[in-house]
Amino acid sequence: MEQRQCGTSGLSLSALGMGCWAFGGGDYWGEQSQADVDRTVRRALDLGINYFDSAEAYNEGHSEESLGKAIAGLPRDKIVVGTKISPNNTASDVLVEHCEASLRRLGTDYVDLYMVHWPIEPHAIGHFGGGECPNVEDAFAALMKLREQGKICHIGVSNFGVEFLEQARATGAEIAANELPYNLLCRAIEREILPHCRNAGVGVIGYMALLQGLLADIYPTLDDVLLWQRRTRHFSPERAGELCRHGEAGAEAETDEALAAIRAVGAEHGMTMPEIAVKWALAGEGITSVLVGARNEQELEANLRAASDPLDPAVIEKLNTATAALMEKMGPSFDYYEHTDNDRTRPARRP
Ligand SMILES: NC(=O)c1ccc[n+]([C@@H]2O[C@H](COP(=O)([O-])OP(=O)(O)OC[C@H]3O[C@@H](n4cnc5c(N)ncnc54)[C@H](OP(=O)(O)O)[C@@H]3O)[C@@H](O)[C@H]2O)c1
Repeated sequence: MEQRQCGTSGLSLSALGMGCWAFGGGDYWGEQSQADVDRTVRRALDLGINYFDSAEAYNEGHSEESLGKAIAGLPRDKIVVGTKISPNNTASDVLVEHCEASLRRLGTDYVDLYMVHWPIEPHAIGHFGGGECPNVEDAFAALMKLREQGKICHIGVSNFGVEFLEQARATGAEIAANELPYNLLCRAIEREILPHCRNAGVGVIGYMALLQGLLADIYPTLDDVLLWQRRTRHFSPERAGELCRHGEAGAEAETDEALAAIRAVGAEHGMTMPEIAVKWALAGEGITSVLVGARNEQELEANLRAASDPLDPAVIEKLNTATAALMEKMGPSFDYYEHTDNDRTRPARRP
């Protein structure tokens, strides 16, 4: 498995990383057996995946707990653990307690990459349970202190647009990575933040390589997509009912067309849709690691096969063309869950 440098941080991540959101089970992903998690994590390590990505918010801490069980007794220095603190918990005193709680759940003395899950701004705070908006300088000062103490090795952010990333860097914190949504149906980061990170020496960890199953080709039609996975701006508000927060018209026709075109390019080149989708994400210029949420060894091995050799540039071009109309329709916001006016990735421009 190829290892890639995470910007200029000195952190090295496997090109394919393991998304651990489903670990521990819960409302969003349903049941998840710990035995499958244990086997999948061991197999991933054997096959060269070293990066494991969790968050305190995933399944109310159960994802971290489950990952902690799976890595217990395994060589810690071969594993890169990434986890995230929710933005509403970043007031300096609270942040330290939350980091320590994550360490306990993960069963480890240190986190390799500790990220702020969403920008520290009122709308994102509201989504994570509300409360007063913490001070950004204090939050990053507290993170730098945790780093000095060795409780975290690198500071990262997630879902930070250019302005928020620069605000974080201006505090003096070295930001190793920005974790951002990146897949064939979610290409908005290509417009601004991905090149910006590349130029700034900040690694980019691309998440939802299969758009939570849509690019796994497991749904015959958009009507079959699971309810929680219908909340993005690809879907009309009616499809997700009260779970939908964006309130925009959606882009179902463009999404359907893009899926059909991706499937056709895959068939032409003898690849399944998840295979070609993972390969495409791995080829993104400036992408350090691509996260896929495999729930068992079979999915993991299929994704590893996809990572075994790179996609031909001519095929990448065909896929870019196949998804260009959707990319245009989705616009510049990479907050796929909210109305463009409520974009949490950049300072409010709301009327
Ligand atoms: N920073 C953030 O804000 C953020 C947000 C979202 C995700 N993430 C991270 O990114 C990771 C990946 O995203 P995700 O898990 O949400 O979505 P994803 O990786 O796009 O999709 C995961 C789902 O795809 C299916 N799958 C995986 N490999 C497959 C294969 N080879 N063939 C067929 N189906 C396959 C599985 O579905 P089944 O359920 O059918 O097994 C799996 O649960 C997360 O686990 C998390 O670590 C971060």
